[in-house]
Amino acid sequence: EQLRSVLQNMPKAELHIHIEGSLEPELIFALAQRNSVSLPYASVEALRDAYAFTDLQSFLDIYYAGASVLLTEQDFYDMTAAYLQRAAADNVRHAEIFFDPQTHTARGVPFETVINGIWRACQEGPISASLIMCFLRHLSEEEALATLEESLPFRDKFIGVGLDSSEVGHPPEKFARVFERARQLGLRLVAHAGEEGPPAYIESALDVLEVERIDHGVRSLESPALVERLVREQMALTVCPLSNIKLRVFDVMGKHNLRELLDKGLVATVNSDDPAYFGGYMNDNFIAAFEALPLDVNHARQLARNSFAASFLDPERKRAFI
Ligand code: ADE
Ligand code: ZN
Repeated sequence: EQLRSVLQNMPKAELHIHIEGSLEPELIFALAQRNSVSLPYASVEALRDAYAFTDLQSFLDIYYAGASVLLTEQDFYDMTAAYLQRAAADNVRHAEIFFDPQTHTARGVPFETVINGIWRACQEGPISASLIMCFLRHLSEEEALATLEESLPFRDKFIGVGLDSSEVGHPPEKFARVFERARQLGLRLVAHAGEEGPPAYIESALDVLEVERIDHGVRSLESPALVERLVREQMALTVCPLSNIKLRVFDVMGKHNLRELLDKGLVATVNSDDPAYFGGYMNDNFIAAFEALPLDVNHARQLARNSFAASFLDPERKRAFI
């Protein structure tokens, strides 16, 4: 009805999307064929059937397998162009897109192949897009530092760095030096924290890494002192409703804490995370959350405003959207 069309039509920014997580099964099979890569799945349907996750790690194993078909600059371009088209259809006007270079350089794909393909698609529209390079937290800080050095010839092609992959056991402070170096380089800083990990990981992302946004952050509600701080600092959380259900952070959407986050004055945003794996793009995330939770049109407008306010757009462009 009316709320649904408000959700679909309102201009919005997406701040938490892993480009490798936008790779649809059909494109995985097409690229596998184009590149003569063999997949351990007989068909698109068999691959889709494997998308039954029990936690973050069970997803990551399949997500890294899917990314193995990406070899050429054209592959990275095609993946990114498909995402940008799909996001535009949901009235996403600006996207800040994560990419995981280490997933590819570890397979022998050159860094420049990855970033040039993704970046070229972003230059062509149809929406505004910026790139955020993520370090894989299951790897060492030395490997993250080497990746940051490798990225320097392409410094003008991305705006910031982030931290993703297996959270528990890999706290933010493991990456203190690489984030310090990124800060010196003038890069914007974000990190996944409080998805599966405890509130202490959110605190160390803020205190040690000095991040400017928290990706996920839904476990912040377990610590009232942390909530008070996040509200005081107006620290944005990039929440991903469908992801949280698929990875069993919450049992069902009706138990998601998005409404509570907003009620407490937190700067929550709605995002798709890995839309090809979690059952939907931006508007699917909004609609699923609004169907299951007591959220109304004012919450919708607040979430859209938050998405632009929390973006790394320059102030004039931000104001034009808000
Ligand atoms: N990589 C892709 N999606 C992720 C998520 N939701 N958490 C951590 N790492 C990821
Ligand atoms: Zn994520």
